[in-house]
Amino acid sequence: RKLIAEPFKIKVVEPITMTSRSQREHAMEAAGYNTFLLNSRDVYIDLLTDSGTSAMSDNQWAGMMLGDEAYAGSANFHHLETAVREIYGFNYVVPTHQGRGAENILSRIAIKPGDWVPGNMYFTTTRAHQELAGANFADVIIDEAHDPQAAHPFKGNVDLNKFQELIDRVGAGKIPYICVAVTVNLAGGQPVSMENLREVSAMARNHGIKVMFDATRCVENAYFIREREDGYQNKPIAEILKEMFSYGDGATMSGKKDCLVNIGGFLALNDAELYQKATQLVVLFEGMPSYGGLAGRDMEAMARGIYESVDYYYIQHRIEQVRYLGGELAKAGVPIVEPVGGHAVFLDARQFLPHIPQEQFPAQTLAAQLYIESGVRSMERGIVSAGRDKNGKHYLPKLELVRLTIPRRVYTYAHMDVVAEAVIALFEQRHLIKGLEMVYEPPVLRFFTARFRPL
Ligand code: F0G
Repeated sequence: RKLIAEPFKIKVVEPITMTSRSQREHAMEAAGYNTFLLNSRDVYIDLLTDSGTSAMSDNQWAGMMLGDEAYAGSANFHHLETAVREIYGFNYVVPTHQGRGAENILSRIAIKPGDWVPGNMYFTTTRAHQELAGANFADVIIDEAHDPQAAHPFKGNVDLNKFQELIDRVGAGKIPYICVAVTVNLAGGQPVSMENLREVSAMARNHGIKVMFDATRCVENAYFIREREDGYQNKPIAEILKEMFSYGDGATMSGKKDCLVNIGGFLALNDAELYQKATQLVVLFEGMPSYGGLAGRDMEAMARGIYESVDYYYIQHRIEQVRYLGGELAKAGVPIVEPVGGHAVFLDARQFLPHIPQEQFPAQTLAAQLYIESGVRSMERGIVSAGRDKNGKHYLPKLELVRLTIPRRVYTYAHMDVVAEAVIALFEQRHLIKGLEMVYEPPVLRFFTARFRPL
């Protein structure tokens, strides 16, 4: 397989810690078998998340020195606004400290108690904010997304029948907006096609329902459209992105992913009235509408990151590196979510550990074992992440996954090989692995701080 070489050279390096197996066993026990609770100093290759873990460019670091740290009207805010208008095509920008800050504001300005918010699968913080504002969440993603091995080029697509069925059942008046994630994180980083966006938008507009994007990994989505959808093969990424967003009314953005920064986010809107409502709330929760909880330098880095992220060679290397890791695992027979998505390779813990029932947390178990085996840190995305419903019952997601999330511009192909070897070694001794029981469970977003013990 021909590798797509890095379209950058390395100017600064950060040494990483090597640990022994017994050190890792102790560290995992102290962390309650939850990889979120490990100290990063005890981690060799950190694939917990691609969020806020990107390497910034020299151009972004140079921008950090140009921070205009004024309380109001920072020049960096205007640069960010220009970047969002030029590259994403939305009129108004409200900066927030990160994506969930934008989700909080959007949920509060758009949702009334008893409303419904359909989405192409859920994301943890997004759904939590929608529910906090009184909404019911309805999953309208296509069925293939819930099947780890179903082959579909756009597994993140909205099922128009499910969307229509919800409209018929609860009435369009109870649906303020549909939340469309591009790509869909918990489905495995799966993209949505342009055709689907066009159809969803037409259906929503017919019923007076707004389309709000979760734009978090939108550049990755644009790359998949260019690769897989007829008519887009020769289009610049920026042009594809603009068209995607032309089908929506606004977006929440976690800049920590596709804007290539370590912190930051924003809410983007086209509607002046909604924007005004958002500015009334952002002062309460984040800061002035011209900084929203960010330093001027952070807004500058994000503005520059937005322009860099639409470079074809950057995004090609990113996607191909993730695909390389997936390919190495698939070749060895390790069960993964296919096709490989944009930001991560997801191990299918149900198939990896078929002898462990879902109530004994197979994905949580696999993530803990992978760390002990190799010092590679991954993340559970299964029953623990899904949490409990209003009646206190575990949500039982069909997907029980371990996410190997690749930070942007940080690791090399050699690191990917180390990860693949560790997973394959674990796969060969999978019959020896036993499940976990939960010994501490916080009431919301439990996966961050829950603690476990081996059975
Ligand atoms: N939407 C999606 C699809 C996300 O993946 C995330 C964060 C958010 C919204 C929230 O953004 O973290 O900036 O507040 N995902 C991270 C992850 C945490 O590891 O997948 P945030």
